Amino acid sequence: MLLPSLYALHEDGLIAEDLRIVGTARSDLDDDRFRALALEALNTYLPDDRKDEAKIASFLAHLQYQPLDASTLEGFDALAAKIGDITGGLSIFLSTAPFLFEPTIKGLKAAGLTGANVRIGLEKPLGNDLTSSAVINDAVASAFSEDQIFRIDHYLGKETVQNLMALRFANMMFEPLWNANGIDHVEITVSETVGLEGRHGFYDSTGALRDMVQNHMLQLLALTAMEAPADFDATSVRDEKVKVLRSLRPVAADEMVRGQYDAGAVSGGAVESYKNDLGEDSDTETFVALKAHVDNWRWQGVPFYLRTGKRLSERRSEIIIQFKSVPHNIFAGRGGKLNANRLVIRLQPEEYVRLQVMAKKPGMDRDGVVLREVPLDLSLTQAFAKARRRIAYERLLLDLIDGDPTLFVRRDEVEAQWRWIDAIRQVWADENIATKPYGSGSWGPSASIALTERDGVTWHE
Ligand code: BG6
Repeated sequence: MLLPSLYALHEDGLIAEDLRIVGTARSDLDDDRFRALALEALNTYLPDDRKDEAKIASFLAHLQYQPLDASTLEGFDALAAKIGDITGGLSIFLSTAPFLFEPTIKGLKAAGLTGANVRIGLEKPLGNDLTSSAVINDAVASAFSEDQIFRIDHYLGKETVQNLMALRFANMMFEPLWNANGIDHVEITVSETVGLEGRHGFYDSTGALRDMVQNHMLQLLALTAMEAPADFDATSVRDEKVKVLRSLRPVAADEMVRGQYDAGAVSGGAVESYKNDLGEDSDTETFVALKAHVDNWRWQGVPFYLRTGKRLSERRSEIIIQFKSVPHNIFAGRGGKLNANRLVIRLQPEEYVRLQVMAKKPGMDRDGVVLREVPLDLSLTQAFAKARRRIAYERLLLDLIDGDPTLFVRRDEVEAQWRWIDAIRQVWADENIATKPYGSGSWGPSASIALTERDGVTWHE
């Protein structure tokens, strides 16, 4: 993700000619070997139409490498020497195991790599509960002020996620209905077809709740539910998001489902169970469904159903806004049946916004009026066909380099997210809520269907 994103920025002339990118990790590489590794990554991950040999060569010239064992202070001076003069600014992108955050910050500080003109981007996982995330955040705060800290949630770099704000706040027609008077419920689905993807240790100690809900899904929920910020700037947007996150009601035991994939078939191919993929027994959830409530005036009585999982039927991220029914059906006497309006915001793989509206089927209506749901489609892929689709990290890395924190997560947001997630895990522990098996290639355990059906709601599939 990172090297192809940086390359794409370079290809478009969006990063300065004299920008130097210094990679550092434990592996004992030199500049040339790092460049060879980068070249291999670019060849593997860049789409063919973006491979421009001359530009790849000039991009590789930006790259340098310094080996470093971040667990000890030794070595940071050599890193600082390699980086050289930072009076023109330095952006650090830290992607490492949680236990290395503290020593890394200490090392950076000792080597003089934490001044006022230094920014730091932090990649998850930033801890695995409120307490451990506070330890990391405190460590970072000992060397950087909050406005120098850029916590990454790559969902915020996705074009359609930003479009959610444009849809809500750049149009008049949705907002008057965007509340408990107009909306019956909201669904947020992030389904994946992939399984463990070789991340055994990390995933098994994390699970779907902490891997996906704690960050990406709660950010989607916050953007869907927040009040209109006064400005599109970092403080205003994040102030509104955090209010939503703090209004989340603790989830009750009968409002949550944990699942784990069994063997099955995904995209036409047979796949193994999670336990087989992992090579041992485990009760880690690869699926979670929740009924969430935002306890404020706007959302009183409107459930937010969330679900995410691996090895599901298809890869899809979407937000469904289910509006209420009209107060009276004037067509009922003539047999006309109505469905309530539904707004489908598809984030991926396709990018579109679709409003389902009722329309009359053409005809003489002698046997009654026939009304049908028809989509009002706004395909972002088609409407902006010429605009390049970017990897989320391109936008975020550029914002980090430019110093714009609007699309990064502030500490109070992260803490509100963890507080809510920790309470869910506490219920799992107190009530011994075990995972329910689901066949790979399905939409999760049947309990997830029951979670909505008992409210008369069917997941949008
Ligand atoms: C990551 C999770 O944050 O998001 C992964 O750790 C998950 O488990 C990924 O696969 C999903 O991102 P995307 O952009 O493919 O929806």
